[in-house]
Amino acid sequence: MNRAICPGTFDPVTNGHLDIIERSAGLFDEVIVAVALNPEKRGGPLFSLEERESFLRDATAHLPNVTVQSFDGLLIQLADELGAHVIVKGLRAVSDFESEFQQAQLNHRLDTKVETMFIMAIPEYTYLSSSAVREIAALGGDVSGMVPASVVDALAKRLKLAR
Ligand code: PNS
Repeated sequence: MNRAICPGTFDPVTNGHLDIIERSAGLFDEVIVAVALNPEKRGGPLFSLEERESFLRDATAHLPNVTVQSFDGLLIQLADELGAHVIVKGLRAVSDFESEFQQAQLNHRLDTKVETMFIMAIPEYTYLSSSAVREIAALGGDVSGMVPASVVDALAKRLKLAR
């Protein structure tokens, strides 16, 4: 069984993330989308772990070999627990490379049996990030087409409450 992990904070999931997950699902027998609790992210996440997982479950329901779960610890430990030998990450631009290269090197140092593989973002998603989506939505911009419809609604509700 060729099992891969697609990890991230997914606050919230974007259509760019979903493109990487779908393309991974075509390459591996099983893909586990691993949602990091990540409480130390600056300011804390906008959406709870349960909300982030739920957006991902809805958006990947059509992919039979994709499951979603949370984790709070070392990614490499999760890979070991799940028997996954590949970590899949999306790369958008050169600016992603430094941090991704560091994470891949550190994870390799922690466990040489787990490989990190990168899938290049398609051009229309190269500009897309969860933080940009949060900022645009918070300032009243239209994020439809950037995130699933359920996330567009959830952002509107959450940010209305915050105003
Ligand atoms: O979507 P993000 O925020 O870029 O995802 C980053 C994530 C969650 C993949 C990364 O922070 C991570 O792997 N966290 C788990 C902690 C860990 O294993 N750290 C050591 C490797 S650098």
